[in-house]
Amino acid sequence: MLNITDVKLKYGASHALRGVTLEVAESKITGVLGRNGVGKTSLLRAVIGQHPLSHGDIQFGAELFTNKHIHDRARSGIGFVPQGREIFPLLTVKENLQTGFSAIPRNFRTIPETVFELFPVLKDMLGRRGGDLSGGQQQQLAIGRALVLRPKLLVLDEPTEGIQPSIIKDIGRALQSLRNQGIAILLVEQYLDFCREIGDHIYIMDRGEIVHTGAPDTLDRNDIRAMLTV
Ligand SMILES: Nc1ncnc2c1ncn2[C@@H]1O[C@H](COP(=O)(O)OP(=O)(O)O)[C@@H](O)[C@H]1O
Ligand SMILES: [Mg+2]
Repeated sequence: MLNITDVKLKYGASHALRGVTLEVAESKITGVLGRNGVGKTSLLRAVIGQHPLSHGDIQFGAELFTNKHIHDRARSGIGFVPQGREIFPLLTVKENLQTGFSAIPRNFRTIPETVFELFPVLKDMLGRRGGDLSGGQQQQLAIGRALVLRPKLLVLDEPTEGIQPSIIKDIGRALQSLRNQGIAILLVEQYLDFCREIGDHIYIMDRGEIVHTGAPDTLDRNDIRAMLTV
């Protein structure tokens, strides 16, 4: 569904991605693991169109994404949950969800019921300000906001960062449920166990490159740990 081919990305003279090739299959959770600073967020910027490539191609289904504008990519069905969540603290939960409407035609601007099925807490808190929610609730809100455009592919940047274990479990269940509903998921993580538990396929990144790939049960836990801590 999403094919990333030999993608290179630079910030000025500094190389953040050095030829990344990666595939996200339909109805699967594809995990990308890596330490801080290896280029995970840069990879997602390349996918959603937040930063130009210096080399390579990104193909989404039949569409060539490489030079497409970020808004057109969103319209094609990519939902993005940024690192640090970036919800609007002064807007209500409902208004935060509605900010997801910008990429969709007026007639389709309703909040899908799935959002509240996955995260019932959001329904109870529709009138509360985003800034009053706990970190875990804010993460659920950020995922809900990305689901508003009914994406075919959901892209998440470290959704477990700074979140308490019980909510990490809820988020894991939600992602598996979305996968089972036919949504492809590209999940960037530093948290190995979360990625191993829910991922169908895993890539490990180091210094702007993919250094290992496989199904979670074919990757030795200690080998991965070594790659993530060296
Ligand atoms: N906007 C930017 N300008 C310059 N360098 C950046 C920028 N964003 C990230 N970098 C650098 O690119 C490299 C990869 O960063 P990033 O993709 O954020 O890694 P990760 O998400 O894995 O922590 C790091 O060395 C980082 O310092
Ligand atoms: Mg990052």
